[in-house]
Amino acid sequence: EGGGATSDAPLFDKLPKKIQDEGVIKVGTDAAYKPMEYKDGQKIVGLDPDIADAMGKKLGVRFEFTNGTFDGLITSMQTGRFDMIMSAMTDTKDRQEGLDDKGKKAGKGVDFVDYLTAGSSILVKKGNPEKIDSVEQMCGQKVATQRGTTSHEILKKQTEKCEKDGEKAISIEPFDTDDEARVRLKAGGVVADVSDFPVAANAAKAGKDFEVVGEQMESAPYGMAVSKTNTELRDALKEALAAVIKDGSYDKALKKWGVE
Ligand code: ARG
Repeated sequence: EGGGATSDAPLFDKLPKKIQDEGVIKVGTDAAYKPMEYKDGQKIVGLDPDIADAMGKKLGVRFEFTNGTFDGLITSMQTGRFDMIMSAMTDTKDRQEGLDDKGKKAGKGVDFVDYLTAGSSILVKKGNPEKIDSVEQMCGQKVATQRGTTSHEILKKQTEKCEKDGEKAISIEPFDTDDEARVRLKAGGVVADVSDFPVAANAAKAGKDFEVVGEQMESAPYGMAVSKTNTELRDALKEALAAVIKDGSYDKALKKWGVE
């Protein structure tokens, strides 16, 4: 049990008072995104929890991950359910500014501490029966994805292009989790699942059901998200991240989970 009101950890003093007192940083995540975060029994494990663990040693507090629906994480954080989000969440301008998918103001926006880079990928059934290798080929097809993700956005943008070019729209099937999207792909209900590359690559490696096709799309940083008012926590996270990069524990976590 780490934490308490005092700690010898080098960055403890940088944390907000409330977190120092509680000894815990509460983290919202969608734990259905292996290897980034997933459930092993009741425990949430993966690359994000391991990076957080390493940072916790520098901060002298524990990170406690709670499972939630990805599409609702920012709202949940802003209503106070947790202090931050670490969920392979892409640092986008829309999320920074609290804009919805039409670019309209929808919420308060968040600050990000960037820690990794990844783009979206296309996962298909092994053997690629539909011979797909880009989203441009998805016009008129059924495609699964996780709701509210950058992959979902890529598909929405592409379907507009399909229609502008006089082709049929993509029939996008958004699921609360990417695990559900992959179940749908395995059952043959869709021709592809679009998700982040580390997750698609992991699913392809894990068995004989799937393969990744085409190029990674729209590579961008993942960020830990905090409310814009929580600048103390944001800055402490930045320093803790720099410290775990410097001492090699960040690289060790990446290697352990096969993410580069
Ligand atoms: N990086 C993508 C995004 O921010 C997908 C993240 C999904 N994360 C998860 N834990 N399910 O939209």
